[in-house]
Amino acid sequence: MATDLMDAVTEQQLAILGGPKVITQHEKSLFHWPIVTEEDEQAVIAVLRDGSMSGVGITKQFEQEFAAWQGVKHALAYPNGTMALMTAMWALGVRRGDEIIAPSMTYWASATPVLGLGGIPVFADVDPKTLCLDPADIERHISKRTKLIVPVHYAGHPCDMDAIMAIAKKHNLKVLEDVSHSHGALYKGRMVGTFGHAAAMSMMAGKSFAIGEGGMLVTNDRAVYERAALFANYERHTEIVTDPELKPLIGIPWGGMKGRLNQTAAAMGRVQLKHYPARIREIQAGMNRFWDLLEGVPGLEVTGGVVKVAANMMTGHDGIFAGGDMVPAERNVTVGIGHGKQAARHIDAWLRGEKHVPAPQHEVANFEKLNPWYYADAPKTVRPMLDIIRRQSTFDEVQGGLDESNALFEARRCLSCGNCFECDNCYGVCPDNAVIKLGPGKRFEFNYDYCKGCGMCVAECPCGAIKMEAEEI
Ligand SMILES: Cc1ncc(COP(=O)(O)O)c(C=O)c1O
Ligand code: SF4
Ligand code: SF4
Repeated sequence: MATDLMDAVTEQQLAILGGPKVITQHEKSLFHWPIVTEEDEQAVIAVLRDGSMSGVGITKQFEQEFAAWQGVKHALAYPNGTMALMTAMWALGVRRGDEIIAPSMTYWASATPVLGLGGIPVFADVDPKTLCLDPADIERHISKRTKLIVPVHYAGHPCDMDAIMAIAKKHNLKVLEDVSHSHGALYKGRMVGTFGHAAAMSMMAGKSFAIGEGGMLVTNDRAVYERAALFANYERHTEIVTDPELKPLIGIPWGGMKGRLNQTAAAMGRVQLKHYPARIREIQAGMNRFWDLLEGVPGLEVTGGVVKVAANMMTGHDGIFAGGDMVPAERNVTVGIGHGKQAARHIDAWLRGEKHVPAPQHEVANFEKLNPWYYADAPKTVRPMLDIIRRQSTFDEVQGGLDESNALFEARRCLSCGNCFECDNCYGVCPDNAVIKLGPGKRFEFNYDYCKGCGMCVAECPCGAIKMEAEEI
């Protein structure tokens, strides 16, 4: 079996060397999100047919089910997370001139809704390991005007809620958790969104819990819930507000906003919620699958989420290699791709019973050897950039990149020091037809029987890729 596999593998060239691609599925179908089934479609169609998009009955059911799942007393749905956050800030008592402390790295809506209330966002550092608000940096930002701390459970990672709640208690501050990245994540076994005085979250299409566009505010505090309803849910004041002090205020949207969720999204939300726990369990199992398979393999050394490898990218276990961002190095896309490529070459050689020897590096061509006149002033293309949070949930920015002609144009700025890029200059200037073209991508060969050593090719090569050497006679 193993031999069959080795034969099958060694018959073919690696894709990076011109062989067939192993993965042919398109990225779009691999990373399509959210999961929408016929059940979602039917639920949405029912709302459309019923014409109840602006109703609240289905939204109320969604809120109740969401509150029960989240383990809180109250939930209020919104058209987006930004609105839920703003409402929660107001309901927690943030007013004009007040300050809130938010993490310095997050989507803007964790902090900026406070501007609409006349308040001021103040940014504290994040922990470089978790990317969550660093409790050690919060206190130095607390002033007389601070009212609220907004921890964001960033990219699925829970904040250190014990430390944050202790600081809030000490300074008599409120805590609003932004759960937009972490629906259902646990901190010490308890779901995030249940620690602060309230939590708010986005449910837009790129989030793990996604209903298209939508937001949710959750709280155990009835006073916060009632105030939130006053802010932007005017049509539900009589249903929600019970506090005698607030009752005279009903009927007026105190935030000057309308926060009603379109019921097509609420209907989809109910279906999504029904399947969400099972789906996250499955995704988690998928994320851990490779690590689980490697559990207990002798010789494998894993520290801090990366695997120790030798120079040939082989782990301490013969025949198991690692690459990409699983090996100790900078964990960014460029380095990850480079290490993936390196590992692929070593694995290929190992399967063939060979050793991969990297091609020798050519001599570095210094500036004197270059002909800069040859290169074009090819200005950099300005590519539209997505917001950092959108980048985490879609490949649109990467896929919306340069087309071939743009990329080739931009590449004209590269001096390609010492690397022949097949400009044909040497071929064109050689008076003795001594330069032989080998075909696209294969560069050139020199016929030394014809070459008289005039040096024209060397002088005209833009990138210093040709070197004259004295002939030994
Ligand atoms: C951390 C965080 N907070 C708030 C928001 C705002 O939510 P929405 O886009 O639904 O208004 C988002 C996402 O978009 C987010 O990622
Ligand atoms: S040195 Fe002169 S003759 Fe020789 S290959 Fe270059 S251009 Fe041709
Ligand atoms: S060796 Fe230099 S001049 Fe000749 S094709 Fe390559 S880049 Fe052009």
